[in-house]
Amino acid sequence: MNSIIIIKFIEKGFNMENLKTLIDEKKLHNRIEEIAAQIEKEYQNKEITLICILKGSVFFTVELAKKINGDVRLEFIRVSSYGEGTQSTGEIKMKLDLKDSIRGKNIIVVEDIIDTGRTLSYLIEYLKMKKPSSLKLCALLDKPERRIKKVDVDYTGFQIPDKFVVGYGLDWNEKYRNLPYIAYIEQ
Ligand code: IMP
Ligand code: MG
Repeated sequence: MNSIIIIKFIEKGFNMENLKTLIDEKKLHNRIEEIAAQIEKEYQNKEITLICILKGSVFFTVELAKKINGDVRLEFIRVSSYGEGTQSTGEIKMKLDLKDSIRGKNIIVVEDIIDTGRTLSYLIEYLKMKKPSSLKLCALLDKPERRIKKVDVDYTGFQIPDKFVVGYGLDWNEKYRNLPYIAYIEQ
């Protein structure tokens, strides 16, 4: 049984009541281990560059990197498609660009969650122009019901229902990123 954690929101005007565990820490770690094993097998000791999409993918990227036995490099990029709240504005802004060239590199883009697909489809086009040797996508969570842009994700952690989730890097107005599990906000 999933434990229920109740955290009262004190923000005025926000009617979300409490947080419920959707994916606990053990399930997250087991799944990340499986993805790491799959990546290791597919890349056969080739150098891999994980591009972490800040800020939400930090926990996932770190855990994944630790579990891949091989030559793993890290790069960071920051885009934002959300204003405040739980609805995407649809507009994508590059807030922090890559610092080093990815030309000729084996890239795996690591994303926390794929929702409408706008962020990843924008990023794929952007990264392709930089001529990596290969480009794959890895998302911890996938909310397929909300897809607007089709995106082929190579590695998916969990498919989840259309709920707003927080924890393990994911935030609601910058809060709850540090929860070690994924929770949803029950309305
Ligand atoms: P997309 O462009 O609509 O696919 O949105 C992807 C981005 O929206 C993710 O990288 C998250 O930052 C954010 N996002 C989407 N759904 C959620 C959610 O349920 N909780 C927190 N952030 C979310
Ligand atoms: Mg994100």
